[in-house]
Amino acid sequence: MTDGTPKQRIGRDKAEGMEMNRKKVSVIDLQSRKQSGQPISMLTAYDYTGALLVDRAEIDVILIGDSLGMVIMGLESTVPVTMEEMLHHCRAVAQGAKYAHLVGDLPFLSYQVDPREGVRNAGRLLKEGHVDSVKLEGGREMAATVRAIVDAGIPVMGHIGLTPQSISKLGGFRAQGRTAAAARRLVDDAVALEDAGCYAVVLEAVPAPVAAVITQKLQIPTIGIGAGPHCDGQVLVFHDILGLYDKVQPRFVKGYAQLQQPIIDAFTAFREDVVNHRFPEDEHSFAMKPDELEAFYHSLKE
Ligand code: KIV
Repeated sequence: MTDGTPKQRIGRDKAEGMEMNRKKVSVIDLQSRKQSGQPISMLTAYDYTGALLVDRAEIDVILIGDSLGMVIMGLESTVPVTMEEMLHHCRAVAQGAKYAHLVGDLPFLSYQVDPREGVRNAGRLLKEGHVDSVKLEGGREMAATVRAIVDAGIPVMGHIGLTPQSISKLGGFRAQGRTAAAARRLVDDAVALEDAGCYAVVLEAVPAPVAAVITQKLQIPTIGIGAGPHCDGQVLVFHDILGLYDKVQPRFVKGYAQLQQPIIDAFTAFREDVVNHRFPEDEHSFAMKPDELEAFYHSLKE
């Protein structure tokens, strides 16, 4: 697959040259971006190849999101995703990304029961999954858990608004904080997460003016998904940005490419080549030295 032909080497050299001045993005770098006003870019990735592509695009943060339950495993929600599945994907992403800050999602019920369990599972994502920090869902009710994880030396990203792990309680994938009282609760949740030690917080499906107030109130960066333009950063899901997943299509998604049809076209072309004996050709096959081939044929007669 990668035999290092000149064309492949040029591509690799260029990519490596571009990477020479890059350094790994840290929590401190992300926090200083709030002060400098330089927006943070974040995308999800779930495997080695995806992480390599996202890293080469110089995205600041890669989230190994439990959204993998939906876009990779085809489940109806993120609720069934397990620690073992998260660890498996975190390890794969860590192999592909050299520079982006890696955030591993703590899956449902890996931190909600008690803070000690949260610390243990957050630690596993770092030790076994090789991520740099963890993300968990919830506001004030998660403050003690956030504090315990941070006290163990593990940076935590919060996540409020539409929290998909609570989908049953929320009654579906819908925007949050749309009444004055609910918006006010979100502000209080964000402040509680900051006070508990979060280094950043994701705001999902929240009215833009509410996200603006939270962003202005917090010292730590906010990263929006369906939370308007005033957040300190933006995050999208890998399969959404590439137009690969169409089961759920939130209105806040912007498709930067529509790869579903080109991929299907490539698979169809392959099938047609196979069926019509057009693939493989000589250039895809291995030859033998004529004398070895002759000897081989001769050996069959013995
Ligand atoms: O799991 C995920 O991909 C997420 C993002 C949508 C923020 O939590």
